[in-house]
Amino acid sequence: MTHESWGWSDRLALRYEPMDETHKEFVTLCAALSEDNPATFIERLDALIAHSVEHFEQENQWMAETAFPPAGCHKQEHDSVLEIMREVRSHVLAGDPDLAARLAEELPHWFEHHVDTMDNMLARFMAAQADQAVASAT
Ligand SMILES: [Fe+2]
Ligand SMILES: [Fe+2]
Repeated sequence: MTHESWGWSDRLALRYEPMDETHKEFVTLCAALSEDNPATFIERLDALIAHSVEHFEQENQWMAETAFPPAGCHKQEHDSVLEIMREVRSHVLAGDPDLAARLAEELPHWFEHHVDTMDNMLARFMAAQADQAVASAT
């Protein structure tokens, strides 16, 4: 995988529509970080941060509503990556552009791992709860 060609693929689909839609947005904004235009990097990073705040908040809320057991661990991953994005933002603003390319390269790996593990578990957990609700209603 090279970050230049990284984008949405079915490999990332978790078959939970609202989550997949949000993940497609994340992928678009994250892939845009690798554009070679330092003048707009902060703008592109800010768009990704704004998206991520809402994206993670939505998942944190789903976890609270469904009493998802590893909620603390999942939320911690969200908080950590947001902290990294914000730290990179301040370093780039302070005149250290190398971290911009590094973030653009590393984030797709982070996201794929996060989708495969935490988000996948949450999507399955919510699907199982929905099936149970249907079964007990019939
Ligand atoms: Fe997610
Ligand atoms: Fe997540």
